[in-house]
Amino acid sequence: MNKILVADEMHESITDLLSEIGYSCDYHPNIDRSGILAIIDQYMGLIIRSKTKVDKELIDRGLELKFVGRAGAGVDNIDVLLLREKSIALYNAPEGNRDALGEHAVGMILSLLHKIHSSDLEIRQRRWRREPNRGFELGCMTVGIFGFGYMGSAFAQKLSGFGCQVIGYDKYKKDFASEHVKEVDFDQFIAKTEILSIHVPLTEETKNLIDRKWLEQFTRLRYLINTARGEVLVLKDLLHMLDQGNIHGAAFDVLENEKFDKYSPDQDQTFDQLSKRNNVLFTPHVGGWTFESYARINKVLVEKINAGNHL
Ligand code: 3PG
Repeated sequence: MNKILVADEMHESITDLLSEIGYSCDYHPNIDRSGILAIIDQYMGLIIRSKTKVDKELIDRGLELKFVGRAGAGVDNIDVLLLREKSIALYNAPEGNRDALGEHAVGMILSLLHKIHSSDLEIRQRRWRREPNRGFELGCMTVGIFGFGYMGSAFAQKLSGFGCQVIGYDKYKKDFASEHVKEVDFDQFIAKTEILSIHVPLTEETKNLIDRKWLEQFTRLRYLINTARGEVLVLKDLLHMLDQGNIHGAAFDVLENEKFDKYSPDQDQTFDQLSKRNNVLFTPHVGGWTFESYARINKVLVEKINAGNHL
């Protein structure tokens, strides 16, 4: 049995790449959860993206499952511990989209500092205002990278050349200093960061971690960028800090809730107020989502499956 179920939309290369290493692949980009549950027992491998929850129910039905492949970086939709307990390998492919994400985060910072997105909106209304659109230079700032995995390190590398100070803090990773980043402890991180960029995974520990109390520890914070997971940041608290003028601008590629039709009244109100601010910038979870990364993710994932290089 060498059958693999591909249960989300992926670059078309996935079928050929898997067959080159000896697997036969059923590509079902539109299959829903009940569809997966109904047939998962026929497969030794399952390849998913972020929409599929790989939980106990699904894992228990996958009687022949030997591996799960996550075509992307985040594994917050996967019960990693249960897979490990059952000796089912888990592969992911952050090497495939880290460059896209690093570039995207730099783009967001430049747009905020130089008011590119907001002045563009003004000009469309035939408003030609120079003084209110005077910018700040990235080269004169200290960027703090919170979480120094694949994404944080790619972002640090993309920042080289701008002349800014780049510092990084990671609770679980040490000795990562390089020509692109100075490794600091948390006390230095909160004392020096002016632009905070979030790159931690979503876990029990990081869920809602970044709230008002946490942010108020930073003495020089002016801008915040979230390209990681929306649920690590309490949006309502950030709005409050923007309203108080404690933070000058924020950019979000991810939101606590990315389904507008499923917003609570509270979420609705927060989003409404954020979206009225011209010092706030949004993109729809496309930080790692380029034409190049779409294909590269498959290549990385299949190479790792072939090499047995799992998490
Ligand atoms: C990732 O974790 O790689 C990104 O958040 C994108 O995930 P998705 O495209 O599978 O939703």
